[in-house]
Order: sequence, then structure tokens, then C-alpha cells
Amino acid sequence: MRPGHRCTVARLLRAMNSTEGDGTVGYRLPLVTAVTIYISMVMGALVVGLNAGFVCPDWPLCNGQLIPPLDGLVLVEYTHRLVAAAVSLLVLAVAVVGFRNRKRLDRLSKWLLGITVASIMVQVIAGALIVVLVLPGAFTTIDVGNSMILFATMVALTVHLRRSAGSGTAVAPREMDAKDRGLMRAAWITAIAAFGEVLLGGYFRHSGAGEALFGKGTYLASHQQFIIPSKIFSTTVFALHILFAFVVVVLAVWLLTEAVRSARGVKTVVLYLSLLVAEMVAGAVAYLLELNVASVTVHWSGAALVVGLGSYLVTGLWHDLHGQQINPGHETVVSQGSSDSLTAGGRM
Ligand code: HEM
Repeated sequence: MRPGHRCTVARLLRAMNSTEGDGTVGYRLPLVTAVTIYISMVMGALVVGLNAGFVCPDWPLCNGQLIPPLDGLVLVEYTHRLVAAAVSLLVLAVAVVGFRNRKRLDRLSKWLLGITVASIMVQVIAGALIVVLVLPGAFTTIDVGNSMILFATMVALTVHLRRSAGSGTAVAPREMDAKDRGLMRAAWITAIAAFGEVLLGGYFRHSGAGEALFGKGTYLASHQQFIIPSKIFSTTVFALHILFAFVVVVLAVWLLTEAVRSARGVKTVVLYLSLLVAEMVAGAVAYLLELNVASVTVHWSGAALVVGLGSYLVTGLWHDLHGQQINPGHETVVSQGSSDSLTAGGRM
């Protein structure tokens, strides 16, 4: 490696350092990892939308080659595989940094780390099995749900580490009042319902029901399935998907009233609600454009943002309300404040 390059790599690693100036575990590496996971998810949606999943019928090689001729759909699938490999390495790096700093981490951080590692293993194994065993399309719903869990957990880890960094002090738990409890409950229920809606959408698409609405079966055919779901089945799943979208939006409105009542996280909840409404519009556009690739990819990318923002919201509120002693040994201060600032390290 040339000296200039070495310097850049060293600077990059320093920028993603494992600990902050005050000794808390750094959040930058998890942040970079969360962003890379999101990019990989959008690429994955493109692969599905273009039915490019099987242009490389083998794994980890592509058509028996480490670097195949990169044209057409192979370029899309191969780039997705490269980004996915980067995600695996980054999650591994986060796990190694976490393990090396385990004495500085609280129980929540350790749980989040454990979930991300388990989730990346499921993702790699499920992805490989789908390609190698040519599993039915509906099986890919596991991929959808698991990638969302991986993304949400990495966002939660980033927020938790960021909120705990910089102050040099740990925040002691304080009594939650009825308003706080109401807000926390509403945030959890809405985020879980939104995740359920995403799973329903994933099943709708990957069972082939979405395409079957238009008499098409190209997605299932790419999984070697040549019988498309019936009209009744497809319409029922679609109706459930739309109905549940309204339920989620109603829950988000309830969450907003709770946020206003306790004067916490109002701006974030407004953003969350707007994103949900935009997602409904994107879904309707995808339907009207008969599942045109760009529109479906936008719908999926929005769904991932919904899950990521839900995780950001729940973790931020949880952190504000419970407080967490992330750095045993540090001076402890009592949690307080109810501003609406979204600045890192600040309260929601
Ligand atoms: C909270 C709102 C919504 C969320 C979070 C959501 C999420 C999703 C997700 C995750 C998928 C699977 C995409 C994939 O795997 O690539 C999907 C599929 C789909 N959604 Fe939604 N959705 C929402 C609302 C709606 C609404 C209101 C409509 C229509 C009016 C709609 C129409 C569709 C269609 C047509 C598909 C199937 C795409 C295909 O088969 O290729 N969605 N949705």
C-alpha cells in the first residue's frame, strides 16, 4: 500500500475510533454500518425488482467466477453481493470492537450487539440457501424481516452509544411518570405495528401475490415457481396490507398526541407520521404503475426508513426516560429535561 493510501486508511480508522475522548464506546462505526446496511437493502430491492436474484445461480461465486463479466443484471446482483459482503465485515468489526470494550458496555449495548451478530448470520445463511436450494419466493420474506431487524438494531446501537457519549457522565434512571409511560408504550406499539406492516408487505410481494394482481408471475418464475397465486388470495393480502397501513397511521397519530402531552420527541414523531403517509402514497403509486421497478424500490426504501426511524424514536425515548449507566465508574447525574432537540447526545 502506498504511504498516501495508508494515511487515508489510518485517518478513516481514527475517524471511526472505538472510544470517545471521555472513554465511552464510539458510535461512528455502528453509524457507518447502519448506513451501509440501508444501501445494501435498497440494492436488494433492485435485485428483486429486476428479477436479478438468479443471474448468479451459485454462491459465493457468480457463474463459477470470482469476478464475472459485469454487464446487465449481473452487475446489479454482483454489486449487491459486494455491498452485502461489506455489511458482514462491518458488523464483524462492530462485534470485535464491542467485545474488546465489553467492560465499558452496559447490558442493552451487549444485547443489541448479540442481535446484530445473530441477524447477520441468519441473513447470510438464508440468502445462500435461497439461491443454492432455489427456495420458494415466499421464503424471501424471512430476508425482508431479518434485514429490517438488522438495520433497526444497528440504528438502536448507534443512538444508544451516541446518547451515552460526550457528557463524560452516566445518566441515572429516574422515575417515569404516567405521561412518560404512555409515550413509551405508544412508541413501542406503533413501531412494532409498523414492522408487522412491513412483514405483511414483504409477504405480499414475495409470495407473488402483488404481481398476480396484474396476472404476472415473473418474480415467482425466477424462483422456478410457475403457478401464480389466485386472484382471491392476492386481493385479500392486498386488502389486509392497505387496511393495516391505516391502523399503523392511526397508531402514529395516537403516538403524536402522547408526544405532545409529555412534550417529548414531537418533531421526530411528526417526521415518522409524515413518512408513514408518504409510504402509503408510494404504495398506491406502485400499484397504479403496475409495480414498475422504480416505484416498488421507492416503496421498499421508504419502508426501511420507517423501521429505522421507529428504532431511532424508541431507543432515543427509552434512553431519555430510563437513563442508562453505560460507563460504570463514571460520575452519575440525574436524568432531566424535556426539550425536543434531536441533536446527538441531547434529549428528544
Ligand atoms: C405504512 C404503510 C406501508 C408500509 C410500511 C408498506 C410496506 C411494504 C413493504 C415492505 C412491501 C414489500 C416490498 C418489497 O419486499 O420489496 C410492500 C409491498 C407492496 N405495497 Fe406496501 N406498505 C405500506 C402501505 C401500502 C399501501 C397503502 C399500498 C397501496 C395502496 C401499498 C402497496 C403495496 C404494493 C402494491 C406492494 C407489492 C409490490 C410488489 O408486489 O412488487 N402499500 N409494502
